[in-house]
Amino acid sequence: MITLTPLDEPALARLLEAAVAGADPLDVMPPVGGPPGWTATRRSAFLEFHRGRSLNAATAVERTWVVDADGTAVGAARLERHGDAVEAGIWLSRDARGRGIGREVTRLLLTEARASDATRFTASTTPGNTGARSLLAGLGAALTTDGDEVRAEVQLSGRE
Ligand SMILES: CC(C)(COP(=O)(O)OP(=O)(O)OC[C@H]1O[C@@H](n2cnc3c(N)ncnc32)[C@H](O)[C@@H]1OP(=O)(O)O)[C@@H](O)C(=O)NCCC(=O)NCCS
Repeated sequence: MITLTPLDEPALARLLEAAVAGADPLDVMPPVGGPPGWTATRRSAFLEFHRGRSLNAATAVERTWVVDADGTAVGAARLERHGDAVEAGIWLSRDARGRGIGREVTRLLLTEARASDATRFTASTTPGNTGARSLLAGLGAALTTDGDEVRAEVQLSGRE
């Protein structure tokens, strides 16, 4: 079963483990200099990245969840507020990709977005990211391409 667990410190520790075990740092956090791979500096930057963006109320800009597959962390999902819109983001560890989990997480994020007062749900990726493009296409919204960005926008119903 796929569930979204709201991020807290214990969940963040599980998320780091999932990232180190099965994701490229560049897929899951902004670039950090130094040798490749999950160096101590990158692990620490990963924790600070999520604390700053989600856990620290003074600086938080998004809600983040750990994606759990039968109770094991396999990735992260987020919703970032931009005015009346929420922007969604997902990454999964390698072993978890291509099994329909991204599709299910997208559905769960849409449910969260509909429960908020946002009126639009947006997501974007790069033209070469076939998996992410499929997910966006599955939202049922038209995709627009602008340079190196493919973007989807869904109107959330039930709002005046
Ligand atoms: C992008 C990502 C979230 C997609 O999640 P996923 O669980 O792998 O995708 P799903 O298994 O739910 O598949 C969704 C659709 O994409 C297609 N798909 C998934 N991976 C694909 C791939 N590598 N190539 C082609 N199609 C792919 C599936 O066939 C499915 O299409 P369908 O419903 O029309 O059959 C995941 O692969 C991932 O985390 N990738 C690395 C990080 C990343 O790129 N994040 C997004 C940045 S914008």
